[in-house]
Amino acid sequence: MTKTTNGDLLLKNITAQSPFPICFDDLEKAVAEKMEAGPFGYIRSGAGGEQTLRNNRAAFEKYSIVPRFLNDVSNVDTSIKLFGKTYPTPFLFAPVGMNKMAHDDGELAVVRAAQQLKIPYIQSTVSSYGLEEVAQAAPTATKWFQLYWSTNEEIAYSMAARAESAGFEAIVLTVDTVMLGWREEDVRNQFSPLKLGYARGNYINDPVFMASLPDESFESYVQGVLQNVFHPTLNWENVRELKRRSNLPILLKGILHPEDAKLAIENGIDGIIVSNHGGRQLDGVVGSLDALPAIVKAVNGQIPIILDSGVYRGMDALKALSLGADAVAIGRPFVYGLALDGQHGVEKVMTNLYDELKVSIALAGATSLPALRNITLVKKDGVDEK
Ligand SMILES: Cc1cc2nc3c(=O)[nH]c(=O)nc-3n(C[C@H](O)[C@H](O)[C@H](O)COP(=O)(O)O)c2cc1C
Repeated sequence: MTKTTNGDLLLKNITAQSPFPICFDDLEKAVAEKMEAGPFGYIRSGAGGEQTLRNNRAAFEKYSIVPRFLNDVSNVDTSIKLFGKTYPTPFLFAPVGMNKMAHDDGELAVVRAAQQLKIPYIQSTVSSYGLEEVAQAAPTATKWFQLYWSTNEEIAYSMAARAESAGFEAIVLTVDTVMLGWREEDVRNQFSPLKLGYARGNYINDPVFMASLPDESFESYVQGVLQNVFHPTLNWENVRELKRRSNLPILLKGILHPEDAKLAIENGIDGIIVSNHGGRQLDGVVGSLDALPAIVKAVNGQIPIILDSGVYRGMDALKALSLGADAVAIGRPFVYGLALDGQHGVEKVMTNLYDELKVSIALAGATSLPALRNITLVKKDGVDEK
């Protein structure tokens, strides 16, 4: 996976039997035609007037590369190391809930693709399949569990413990979703996947959650999820307690301020995900790439930094890695691949991202991710960024 080829990757795409959308815009168009307005709108949209969603894209557009030439770039090493394990690509699957909306195989298809491509998979709390089923579907994939805190804290601890016993290797606590963002598209479409039961997987398999319900009816389950999944009281003491109770590395997802990154380190956190939830939570927020440089400076190499939100091309990944991210996580692109063609669609999307990244690293004049950090980037105004 590390050997650069002379354009044959692109030729392989051109001569493919069944052409698959090659870029994000094509993917989104194809999925819009295939899916109903409700679920498609849920996946595509951002909160409020979608300024955050636009900021994410605009942040990548601001940067341009000043490439270097005449270095032998025939071998490009794209591998990364996270928590002691080496992976061939700098990608992760971002946690995305309720995958059955996109495809019946849901998370099982995605984790199988993750296993195939050796890309770490982060399973959402609100997934359609339970974490034990996901573990069974892809026993050798690297799996992390994304935790939404719970109003009843014992449910959160129970899920974290289940993840540990099912072989998940890290807990990702999402901190930006203590309540649901203001999602106008879902109001417009009168669509709530939580109320339709798409998030059942981890809840109906949780003994603490099930014991908290008055009965086993569908209505009780939906009410139970809605009461638990939003938790505005979440605070640093909860983070410390989670850290005390778990043997796994803990990451915080949704960090955008360098001071929060420093607090994460002070509180013993093992990694952070710089993210604005793909523009789905607070509107009018800084693009995640724009937040990255100050966080890289504050963290100063002490813990790994993963970035998500708006990584839709190999070139986007290159820019984030060059600005100091250790890896990038992919959200909507893989969901669109899943909607179009299940596991195969997910693999196709991730392979295209990877192939573009690899070619781009070589053309920028680097042969490894550490070398990429020395590449010159300029911002739109022509001022040297680094
Ligand atoms: C349909 C959808 C569902 C999501 N569900 C979750 C979730 O359950 N937990 C979570 O932490 N993030 C969730 N996210 C946010 C992603 O983890 C990630 O931050 C975001 O998708 C990255 O932006 P991108 O889609 O522009 O790549 C979701 C995103 C989408 C699009």
